[in-house]
Amino acid sequence: MRDIVIIGHKAKTDGDFSLNDLPGSAGRMDILCRCVSSALFLSFGMRRDVNVHLLLLGEPDPGKIIRFEGLHLRYLNPDERSSGSLIQKALKKDATEQDIRSTPGIWIRRGDLSFLLSKFEGRTLFYLREDGEDIRAIANEIRDPVFFLGDHVGVTEEEEEQLLKAGAKIISVGPLSLHSNHCITLVHNELDRAEAQRGESPGEIERWIEN
Ligand SMILES: C[S@@+](CC[C@H](N)C(=O)[O-])C[C@H]1O[C@@H](n2cnc3c(N)ncnc32)[C@H](O)[C@@H]1O
Repeated sequence: MRDIVIIGHKAKTDGDFSLNDLPGSAGRMDILCRCVSSALFLSFGMRRDVNVHLLLLGEPDPGKIIRFEGLHLRYLNPDERSSGSLIQKALKKDATEQDIRSTPGIWIRRGDLSFLLSKFEGRTLFYLREDGEDIRAIANEIRDPVFFLGDHVGVTEEEEEQLLKAGAKIISVGPLSLHSNHCITLVHNELDRAEAQRGESPGEIERWIEN
């Protein structure tokens, strides 16, 4: 299983935004939508062994987590508008301290970074940062990982402190600062290549017929 957390510092926490303006009125929700797509989609297929956790910290009700479970997902297409619309639908639910199912494979709840870190206790945590250890050097040893990434503003000092305290290892996908969704693609690629090199068949993947 690969779990990926993206922290959206400005991402709106109610459904009151336009799908035509995901970067503006939705608080850079476009970044999170691209991350969802990069994390889950293959060409003509979907990674069913991936979960994406969007930590939404924008106004008006900061501290919501939307979880996309690859295994159970339905109705998601690769375009930003599609994930934006499913996120909007989830945000229209009354989020509580319990998971609430919005649509198949999509869950919403209240929560913050501490909640996520306690949920992932016992897993191997990785914090993506430009100056971290090269993922290529360790990809072969990575099993059952959880990756944490920032959005356009990165990760705050306080969040970074929490991640490091929880034991997250800092890793890099390259020397330049890249878009969050591109980092996800590169992480998957490194892990896919390492698995292939070990002669392992890829994780749970659903392939669609190409036409
Ligand atoms: C657009 S970048 C953030 C840029 C922001 N201006 C900053 O200084 O943090 C978004 C996120 O992608 C990840 N990231 C970007 N480039 C990376 C790289 N080369 N290696 C690892 N993570 C990277 C980091 O998690 C970062 O928080």
